[in-house]
Amino acid sequence: MSQLVSLANHGPVAVITIDNPPVNALSPGVPEGLASCIETAKADPAVEAIVIIGGGRTFVAGADINEFAKSISAGKGGGPDLTPLFTAIEDSPKPVVVAIHGAALGGGLELAMAAHYRIAVPDAQVGLPEANLGIVPGAGGTQRLPRLVGLAKAAEMIVSGQIVKAPAALELGLLDRMIEGDLLPGAVAFAQETAAKRPLPRTRERVVETDAAGLAAARDLARKTRRNQTAPVMALEALEAAGTLPFAEGLKKERELSAKSLTSEQASALIHAFIAERAVAKIPDLPKDTAPYPLHKAAIIGAGTMGGGIAMALANAGIDVRIKDTTQEALDRGLVTVRRNYSNSVAKGRFPQEVMDQRMALIHPQLDYAGFEEADIVIEAAFESMAVKKQLFAEIDKVAKPDCVLATNTSTLDIDEIASVTSRPEMVIGTHFFSPAHVMRLVEIVRGKATGKRVIATAMALAKTLRKVGVLVGNSMGFVGNRMMFPYMREAQFLVEEGATPAQVDRALNNFGMAMGIFAVDDMGGIDLNWRVQQEYAHLVKPGIRQPLMLRKLFEMGRYGQKTGRGWYVYDENRKAAPDPEVEALIERTAKDAGIERRQITDEEIIERCIYIMINEGARILEEGHASRASDIDAIYFSGYGFPAYRGGPMWYADTVGLRKIYDKIEEFHQKHGELWAPAPLLKRFALEGRTFAGWDEVREGKAA
Ligand code: 3HC
Repeated sequence: MSQLVSLANHGPVAVITIDNPPVNALSPGVPEGLASCIETAKADPAVEAIVIIGGGRTFVAGADINEFAKSISAGKGGGPDLTPLFTAIEDSPKPVVVAIHGAALGGGLELAMAAHYRIAVPDAQVGLPEANLGIVPGAGGTQRLPRLVGLAKAAEMIVSGQIVKAPAALELGLLDRMIEGDLLPGAVAFAQETAAKRPLPRTRERVVETDAAGLAAARDLARKTRRNQTAPVMALEALEAAGTLPFAEGLKKERELSAKSLTSEQASALIHAFIAERAVAKIPDLPKDTAPYPLHKAAIIGAGTMGGGIAMALANAGIDVRIKDTTQEALDRGLVTVRRNYSNSVAKGRFPQEVMDQRMALIHPQLDYAGFEEADIVIEAAFESMAVKKQLFAEIDKVAKPDCVLATNTSTLDIDEIASVTSRPEMVIGTHFFSPAHVMRLVEIVRGKATGKRVIATAMALAKTLRKVGVLVGNSMGFVGNRMMFPYMREAQFLVEEGATPAQVDRALNNFGMAMGIFAVDDMGGIDLNWRVQQEYAHLVKPGIRQPLMLRKLFEMGRYGQKTGRGWYVYDENRKAAPDPEVEALIERTAKDAGIERRQITDEEIIERCIYIMINEGARILEEGHASRASDIDAIYFSGYGFPAYRGGPMWYADTVGLRKIYDKIEEFHQKHGELWAPAPLLKRFALEGRTFAGWDEVREGKAA
C-alpha cells in the first residue's frame, strides 16, 4: 500500500487518509493508494462504511499541477485518468463518505462528488477552479456538478472557477451535512448512521435538467470575464453534454475536451502563471529559515491615494496602523476616501458593518510622529520626489526603533540614495504597492545594496500576510514593472505619431489580452504624474535620440487624464472614454511639424512594437540580475500590469513566440527606428543559441549545456 494513503478501521468504519503534503494533490501514488485502500475496505467483512479524509491542513487541492507542467513540457499533454478510480468509488456497495476540511478543489471535489456522501467543517471550501489553469475538469466535474447543483449554477461555478464556502455548498446541495467540532469523529459517526441506508445515493444516477438560459448566461459570463480564453468555452460544451447525453457518454466527451485543453498554449501559460506566482517566494540567496522581524504595528507617511490604500491593506490584515500627513485637510481627505471605500464594500455585501468598524478602528490619523517609535514598519508613501523622500527618511530615522523596517513606496526612485540619509541603510527597503493598494495584488519589493536579509524576509512576509504577490526586484530605474513600462509607453506614442490613433493602439492591445490599453492606463494614472516622472529622468535621455512629442503637449494643455475629464481620450460624467478628435488633430499637426510621414499601421505592428520592446527590456533586467528569474517578471506583469495570464507573462510569451523570431524582428526595428531598439545582449545570445528565457536559471547557475 502506498505511504501517501493509509487505511485504519474505526469499528465498522474504514477511514482512508490521504497524506500528501502540502495540499494532498492527487500526485502519482495517491490514486493508486486510494484504489487499493478502497478495494481492501470493500473486501473486509468487518467494514460497513468508508470515510475518505485528508491528513494535514486540507482535503485534496486537485490533480498535481506540477505533474501537469512536467507532462506539458515533455510534450505529452494529458493528465492521469481518474475515471476508473472514481467509478470504483461510486460503484462501491458500501457507502463512501468524503469528509472535507480546508479545500476540495478540482480533482478533489470530483473525488468528493463520486462518493455517496459529502460532509464538511464550516470553514471548508469547494470548487472547480480548473479554468484558472486553462483546462476543462477531467474527472467527471462537468457531469457530476450539474447533477448536484443544476446546470446553470454548475456552469457559473466552472466558468468563473468560483470557490464556494461550506455553508453555501450545503445550501446548493453539494454537501450533505456540516460537521461542527472535530471532523474525523463526526465523519465516523455520520458513516455509521448512514451505513445501512439503501439505495446508495449515486450522483451519476441523478437527472440533469437541460437549461438553455443557464448555459447562455454562463457563455455571457465567459465572454465578459474570460475574454479570449478557450477552456471555459470548452467546459460549457462538456456541460451541455451533461444535459443531453447519458452519463457515460458525457464523461467521454469531457475527457476528450479536457485532454485537448491540456495541450493548449493557454493551459501551459496559465499553469506556468500558477507556479510563477508561488515561485516568487523562493529567493535564491535568502536562506529559507531567515526569520522576519515581528510585524504588529505599522506607520504610514502620506494619506494620499497610495497611503490610504496601503493603510486599508494593512488594516484588512488586522495590523494596527498610524497614518501621518502634514495638514489636517490632507489627513481628512485621505480618511474620507478610506471610509468611502469601506462603505462601498459594506453596501455591496462584501463584509458587514462590524468588520468595517473594526478596520477603521485600526487606522489612526495624526499630524505628528507620536507613536512612530512603536512601529515595526514605517512605510513612506509621500510625493514622488527624491528631495521630499530624503527629508522624510532623515526624520523617520530619528524616531523609529532600531529594528523597525523603513520602507518607501517609491515607484521609480533610487532606494540607495534614499537609504543614504539614514543611519541604518540595512533597514531600508522599497515596498512598491500598486494603486488601488487595497485591491491590486502586486508589491514589488526593492532591495537596495545594503538591505539586510531579515528586512527582505520581513517585506516578503508582509506581502504574504496581505495576501499579495510580493516579488523581490533590484534597485534599477523603475525597478522591473515600470522599467519595462517606460519603453512600452514610449513606443505606443511613436505609433500614434506615425499614423495610428490612441484608440487603435488600445484596441489592438486589448485584443491581445491586456486588461487596459496603454493610453487608457496613462489617463487613469495621470498624465501630470507621468510627465513629472519623465522630468526626474530627463537628464538620462541621450541627446539626438527620438523622444515622444505628445505627452508634454497634453500636460501643458492641462489634459491630465481621467481626473480632468480629458487626456488621450475625453471622458463623460461616468468616466467613459471616447476618442477625442481634438487630440487626433493635434497628433496629426505635431507629426507634420516634426516631419513624420504618417502611414497606415497594422495591429500586428502595434503588438510587436509594444510587446517586443518590453521583452527586450525584460532581457536586460534579467541579465543585470534585477529579477531572480524570468518567471518573476511574468508574475509582476500578470499580477500588476494587466498582462494576460493566459499568455503567461511577457517572458513566457516571448518563449512561446520563439526568441529567434523576436530577436530578428527587434533587429529589423533596430535598423528602421534606431538605437532605442538595440537588442538586449541576453536576448541576442539566447536567440542565436536556441534557448528560452525559462532556461535562464540554469544558464546563470552554469548548469546548462
Ligand atoms: N498541485 C500541486 N501543488 C499544489 C496544488 C496542486 N493542485 N495546489 C497547491 N499546490 C502547492 C503550491 O504550489 C504551494 O507549493 P509551495 O509551497 O512549494 O510553493 C503549496 O501547495 C501551497 O499552496 P499555496 O501557496 O497556494 O497555499 P494557499 O494556502 O494560499 O492555497 C490552495 C491553497 C487554495 C489549495 C491553492 O494552492 C490552490 O488554489 N491550489 C490550486 C487548486 C487547483 O487549481 N486545483 C485544480 C487542479 S487541476 C485538476 O484538479 C484537474 C482535474 O479536473 C483532474
